[in-house]
Order: sequence, then C-alpha cells, then structure tokens
Amino acid sequence: MAKITYITHDDRTFEVEAAAGATVMSTAVRNMVPGIEAECGGACACATCHVYVDEAWQDKVGKPSPMEEDMLDFAIDVRPGSRLSCQVKVTDDLDGLVVRIPEEQA
Ligand code: FES
Repeated sequence: MAKITYITHDDRTFEVEAAAGATVMSTAVRNMVPGIEAECGGACACATCHVYVDEAWQDKVGKPSPMEEDMLDFAIDVRPGSRLSCQVKVTDDLDGLVVRIPEEQA
C-alpha cells in the first residue's frame, strides 16, 4: 500500500491509500478524486488523466514512455512534471507521492 496525496487546482487535498499494482489514475477514480476524467479508461489514448508529479517525486516516478509523450501532446498546460496518471503504476516505493491535478483536462 502507498498513500497518495492528490491536490486539486483549487487546493483541495485528497489523501488516499493506493494498492500496489493499481495506477495513480484508477486510484483517483475509485476514490472519487475530482478532476481526473480518464475517458479512455487507462489505455493511454485520451490525455484526460493528466497530473503534475510533485517535484520531489519526479525522479522516483520516472519519465513518460515515448507513447505517453506522444499522448501528452494533447494535454493542456504540460509542464516538466507532467504525466498521464494511468501510466504511473503504484508501488510501495511511491508511499507519500504527491500529485497535482490541472484545472482543465484535454
Ligand atoms: Fe486515457 Fe490515461 S486514462 S490516457
């Protein structure tokens, strides 16, 4: 298990327990965290699960794959910590992860 903190664009904070093997997207959806639409259900085909990984966690979370990079081109206001949350698998190492949710999804 890992605790993940989601912070919405208007500074609401949601702390949830995530199971290893789930994704940051599916954990948000399951816990009704607002702002992650995930229209394609996690197939890396919509860019509506865009999040900003907190700077302190970017090395641990890692970089997007080439396929994810391509899809991130469709996201709004992409920044250095941008990831598609359906492509970030939860591991015990990510206990304490903080991600921010953009104001708008693609
Ligand atoms: Fe569609 Fe992540 S849910 S790209």
